Amino acid sequence: MNLKQIAAEHAASFVEDGMKVGLGTGSTAYYAICRIGERVRAGLNIQAVATSEASDKLAREWGIPIIPFDQIGRLDLTIDGADEVDPDFNLIKGGGGALLREKIVAANSDKLIIVADGSKAVQKLGKFPLPVEVVPFASEWTFKALENMGCQPKWRMDGPKQYLTDNGNLIADCHLGAIADASELNVQLNMLPGVVDNGLFVKMADVVIIAKEDGSIDELHRP
Ligand code: 5RP
Repeated sequence: MNLKQIAAEHAASFVEDGMKVGLGTGSTAYYAICRIGERVRAGLNIQAVATSEASDKLAREWGIPIIPFDQIGRLDLTIDGADEVDPDFNLIKGGGGALLREKIVAANSDKLIIVADGSKAVQKLGKFPLPVEVVPFASEWTFKALENMGCQPKWRMDGPKQYLTDNGNLIADCHLGAIADASELNVQLNMLPGVVDNGLFVKMADVVIIAKEDGSIDELHRP
């Protein structure tokens, strides 16, 4: 039983004819894009925007009409994965490196639907290293600033080279342990010059769809 697929395909059923849809990134969002692609091939009429080059390519392969972000206007919904989800609908995202576009697309969506298997549901965020997107200019200075904040950053690598995001930036994965106040940390990190954004999505998720070990689904709506 593929739990990521179960959650993602359930979320794809939220997409209706005429909608403008944000397409997430990662191995769970992959299944949502494929299911939406099947529905498009069967006649579903939507417009979409992708959160990464990889998802853009996949969507186009399925024939999903992809519109540039600045031309699509407000989105009805976005379906995306997450690395961690807490009971207050806060998330850590960016394990796949797409956090910046994901956050922009989520902020432009009426509804953010998060799809995940049960392993992503946690009581406290922070076991998963928090990705922080950093501009290459003065990156070692920014890295030091993250160290001084106690974030225990590690540059994300791509073989022998530093990993580069679709935006040409670097990622510092911060080994924080349990995060006491996600909202406060989000603000503190984004105030650092050199930081573009970070993977904390504070109360941005509207619906969380978790597929559990027995194949059943929890569909949670933010009050
Ligand atoms: C990419 C993301 C992904 O949604 C997150 O890393 C979860 O990925 P997966 O579904 O492969 O476990 O935030 O930047």
